[in-house]
Amino acid sequence: MTILASNSNDHLQDPLIVAHRGASGLYPELTFQAFNEALKMPIHGIECDVRLTRDGELIVFHDPILSRTTNGRGRVSATDYADLRTLNAGTKDNPQRIMRLAELLELMQDYPDKHIYIETKHPTRYGPEVDEQTLRVLHYAGLRESERVHLISFSHRAMRYFTEFAPELETFYLFRLREKKWNRGNHMLSRPYGVGPALSHLQAKRELLGFRGLRTYTWTVNLPKQMLWCRDNGVDVFATDLPQLAMETFAKHPVATTMVG
Ligand code: G3P
Ligand code: CA
Repeated sequence: MTILASNSNDHLQDPLIVAHRGASGLYPELTFQAFNEALKMPIHGIECDVRLTRDGELIVFHDPILSRTTNGRGRVSATDYADLRTLNAGTKDNPQRIMRLAELLELMQDYPDKHIYIETKHPTRYGPEVDEQTLRVLHYAGLRESERVHLISFSHRAMRYFTEFAPELETFYLFRLREKKWNRGNHMLSRPYGVGPALSHLQAKRELLGFRGLRTYTWTVNLPKQMLWCRDNGVDVFATDLPQLAMETFAKHPVATTMVG
């Protein structure tokens, strides 16, 4: 028996689900636990942010400062890795360490079908070094040409660097919401594989869907109605803090099918 999509919905497909900062809606963001729990789920993959420490280690961390997500203070870029390693990025009852990207890639080896979306954070005092170090770490992990690795950034400069030095890796240029005003024409100063507008930006500027035939990645999609909107509008990939909810939503609202044969 063959199952075909019905005529009205035959263009619809569930978007690929990416766990934003790991399964960060349920576990401390960007920690081993958040990533490991996400990687166990039958989803496409995980998203993470990377920054450089004072002594040049590439760590998995979102903010430029430590205070929101750890018991430390000060700037990541002004702190040595050994000191960051002593901090708690979880809670009192559930302590978690800050990870290096190399450790996260090691964890990925246990999940060979899973993808990773690595966001190099800009602007930073180290400029392009964060991009250079990202490719170095990927190289040592044997993933510099892997189709499982996707590089994303708000920086066109980073996009251009990756296109030149890691042309095999898929890239997504992230659009900031404030870009809606100053970049009305959606000008692209690099040649990414895809565009990554915030969901609110995408909903306000629908022309970014499949912009110039590029793939569309959007974030951060945490409500069932937003998840279904993404599917209805042909978004290819979305990042969510709640990957479990995304799976449940698509299971509850399957694309209508017709059975033939
Ligand atoms: O995946 C892109 C998205 O993560 C960008 O925003 O602030 O969550 O890193 P932010
Ligand atoms: Ca991010």
